[in-house]
Amino acid sequence: MAPLSRSLAYCLAFSSFALATTTYPPLPLPSGVTASYVDTTNTSGLVFHYLSAGCTPSNTTKPLVLILHGYPEIAYGFKDLLVPIAKQGYCVVASDQRGYGRTTGWDTRPWAYVDLTQWKFENLVRDLVAFVWALGYKEVRSVIGHDFGTIPAGWAALTRPDIFQSVLHMSVPFVPPQQPPFHLPTTPSPPSTLSVPDWTYAGVESALEHLTPPRRNYQWYNSQPSAAHDFLTPTALNNSLHAFFRIEWFIKSPAYLAQFPPPHPLPSSDPSDLAQVPYFYIMLANQSVSQTLATLNYGQNASVSKTWFPDADVDVYVQEFSRTGFQGALNYYRVLTSPPGPLTNDGLLWAGRKITVPTFFLGGKYDWQTYIVRGALEGYNVTSTDFRGSVLLNGSGHWPYIEQTGETVRYINKFLEEL
Ligand SMILES: *[C@@H]1O[C@H](CO)[C@@H](O)[C@H](O)[C@H]1NC(C)=O
Ligand SMILES: *[C@@H]1O[C@H](CO)[C@@H](O)[C@H](O)[C@H]1NC(C)=O
Ligand SMILES: *[C@@H]1O[C@H](CO)[C@@H](O)[C@H](O)[C@H]1NC(C)=O
Ligand SMILES: *[C@@H]1O[C@H](CO)[C@@H](O)[C@H](O)[C@H]1NC(C)=O
Ligand SMILES: *[C@@H]1O[C@H](CO)[C@@H](O)[C@H](O)[C@H]1NC(C)=O
Ligand SMILES: *[C@@H]1O[C@H](CO)[C@@H](O)[C@H](O)[C@H]1NC(C)=O
Ligand SMILES: *[C@@H]1O[C@H](CO)[C@@H](O)[C@H](O)[C@H]1NC(C)=O
Repeated sequence: MAPLSRSLAYCLAFSSFALATTTYPPLPLPSGVTASYVDTTNTSGLVFHYLSAGCTPSNTTKPLVLILHGYPEIAYGFKDLLVPIAKQGYCVVASDQRGYGRTTGWDTRPWAYVDLTQWKFENLVRDLVAFVWALGYKEVRSVIGHDFGTIPAGWAALTRPDIFQSVLHMSVPFVPPQQPPFHLPTTPSPPSTLSVPDWTYAGVESALEHLTPPRRNYQWYNSQPSAAHDFLTPTALNNSLHAFFRIEWFIKSPAYLAQFPPPHPLPSSDPSDLAQVPYFYIMLANQSVSQTLATLNYGQNASVSKTWFPDADVDVYVQEFSRTGFQGALNYYRVLTSPPGPLTNDGLLWAGRKITVPTFFLGGKYDWQTYIVRGALEGYNVTSTDFRGSVLLNGSGHWPYIEQTGETVRYINKFLEEL
């Protein structure tokens, strides 16, 4: 099936005729959930694929709740949340993001040729504005982002609070845009040397490489030219994408992580403190993603995760990522790790601005993502003027909405109710 679906992806990328006539296998969706497309080619360049519940296209009276997935995810991951949230009176929509799933129109070219400006964070907000308008809405009651989805969700709430009227961040706390240096010394004559940016991701990385054993942040790994191939072809897992998704979900869940001390805030941003973060985030510098997962999975039984992440769902991820590959999804990391410059400096437009709409954080007690960006969780009362608190689910790691769907829905509905 894989070679066939890869040739389908090729047709999708290079022939608009193929795009117009492509049909995908139906997704095994729960009752009450609909899969749809909406064409925003004229504005964002994308044809969005999304799942929804509680929506009537001809009647947009019900408030809209928008859910944005992270990496390596698709809208399908949220299928079991849509109906229980919709029952509270909402039109609930989860979209495949730029670079993912059945949303098309993004730049599918390889690492060296792709136009990364498509994945700039403020462009992700543009995507959302075009999408929301296309759905017949000009307001979003709440935008919910998981993992990398917290970045577009946070930027949407930060920059267009009139549209995005509340924000719930799941599993990755919000990091506000960088600020320019403040109150610099002035000189009576021009400076003799021009300053160069003193911060680059590569600089942070080289400090990790000097640890014993040498380490590497997964975000940096994900930004490299080889990453898309490494994910699609997990050599240390018998080239099985099914094994990749199974183990990736298992290893970031309490089924694996509960045997270790729970994650906690890091004492400093020093590389030696980052070193205590597990290998799937702060990787061994000489290991690929599949080697990392194979090493951690040695002697474990990832099958225990089948109770909450069934094989049938894993098969859907395998089907979708076999077709699209991973580069579109990994382009987000490349923007994240870009040095100061055109891919990142639009954040300066929002320097010092706070989120002013109701803000809530929902994570898992066993998820190191909560603490990797030091101070982000503790800083919410500074980055948002209407922070409604945070909850870490006792029985969750990085995938609370899959591991503990019921509890996740309960907290989302409580947040929505109290708006
Ligand atoms: C896109 O723009 C073209 C040309 O203006 C127009 O004919 C078409 O209806 C537009 N399509 C959508 C979906 O907005
Ligand atoms: C639209 O939906 C709302 C709420 O679901 C309902 O009260 C209203 O009557 C509907 N309007 C029309 C024109 O059907
Ligand atoms: C990778 O590094 C670890 C820790 O330094 C070492 O034990 C291991 O042998 C290395 N593996 C390879 C394939 O070089
Ligand atoms: C890879 O194949 C070997 C030999 O069949 C098997 O023992 C091992 O469990 C497989 N690993 C994975 C991750 O499927
Ligand atoms: C692994 O877990 C599965 C599901 O709980 C169980 O059926 C199987 O027996 C376990 N395998 C081993 C080797 O413990
Ligand atoms: C924000 O919360 C942290 C930790 O809860 C606390 O130490 C800090 O004083 C608070 N800051 C403000 C401005 O309230
Ligand atoms: C987690 O468990 C502790 C101790 O039982 C309890 O106090 C806390 O409320 C629980 N947290 C959540 C989010 O359920």
